Amino acid sequence: TYVIAEPCVDVLDKACIDECPVDCIYEGDRMLYIHPDECVDCGACEPVCPVEAIYYEDDVPDEWAEYTKANVDFFDKLGSPGGASKVGKVSDDPQWIKDLSPRGE
Ligand code: F3S
Ligand code: F3S
Repeated sequence: TYVIAEPCVDVLDKACIDECPVDCIYEGDRMLYIHPDECVDCGACEPVCPVEAIYYEDDVPDEWAEYTKANVDFFDKLGSPGGASKVGKVSDDPQWIKDLSPRGE
């Protein structure tokens, strides 16, 4: 799977959403998350992110390793809806993501 990491926080550019053929990039309040089971590893999202927030799971920089878990934990309650557009924004970021200080200031 691919993982969205720290640079997405409070940026939420969403260019990635338009590229994903399986609609598996879900929106939270602070960032977006890639569904680890629904992502088919096509890689189309990775080059379009203007802040380089997206990484293949093996390439996530060490300092952002927790984000791999965040892209899993975000779906604890949501499960596997099989498509982000019908779900819309889900205000259920992992608590430590909610607690991050505001970015881009
Ligand atoms: Fe975030 Fe980049 Fe997508 S900022 S919403 S991962 S295009
Ligand atoms: Fe979609 Fe990116 Fe995975 S475009 S299928 S989330 S690699």
